Amino acid sequence: MIQIFSVSKSFGGNIALKDISLRVRQGEFVFITGPSGAGKTTLLRLIFGTEKPTGGQILINKINLTRIKRLKLDMLRRKIGFVFQDFKLINTRTVFQNVALALEITGERSTIIRKKTHQALRALGLEKKENAYPLQLSGGEQQRVAIARAIINDPLILIADEPTGNLDPDITKEIMLLFRSINLRGTTLVIATHSRELLEDTGQRIVVLNQGRIVDEIVA
Ligand SMILES: Nc1ncnc2c1ncn2[C@@H]1O[C@H](COP(=O)(O)OP(=O)(O)O)[C@@H](O)[C@H]1O
Ligand SMILES: [Mg+2]
Repeated sequence: MIQIFSVSKSFGGNIALKDISLRVRQGEFVFITGPSGAGKTTLLRLIFGTEKPTGGQILINKINLTRIKRLKLDMLRRKIGFVFQDFKLINTRTVFQNVALALEITGERSTIIRKKTHQALRALGLEKKENAYPLQLSGGEQQRVAIARAIINDPLILIADEPTGNLDPDITKEIMLLFRSINLRGTTLVIATHSRELLEDTGQRIVVLNQGRIVDEIVA
């Protein structure tokens, strides 16, 4: 599903990733961890195709991201959901509109958009908040809207960057349970976190980054 071969990424003279090789199989749930500045966000962006590697190759479902044209990349990206660290919700749009937007850009029919948006909002326990605006929500609720928006297209892969970074421990548990249930439905998950608590007793694969390199791979 995700194949990364000897990937490196530099920003000017600043080396963010060095010789990264990684395979994530369909349906897997992988954590990427490591201290701030280790290269977690850069790695996620490379998988999402919003950054290009300086060297190496990245294949998503056998499609080489470094070779395809912009239009094809856009199509491929619709199969990948991304939950941003700072949510990136549109504050002038309601919860419903924020989530529906991800389907509108695919040109889906409006009856289907309404149905799927309501489904996603229900799945995330947000049905009562659909007319609220992001700034009227708690951090945990905003995070759930961001997740609803990321899963509305039934993505093959869901990527989340420090999804519980700003949430308190109870909400963090809740969000992690949500991710597990999304994974159980067959979606491949790649989640970056620097939080150690998130990784305790998960029984999941953890890739540890430090200074742009994979320094360890463990199952906690
Ligand atoms: N757009 C960018 N321009 C310049 N340097 C960047 C950029 N993005 C990331 N970096 C650098 O790459 C390194 C890895 O950053 P990042 O991937 O954000 O790490 P993490 O998410 O693990 O905190 C850092 O040294 C950071 O300063
Ligand atoms: Mg980061």
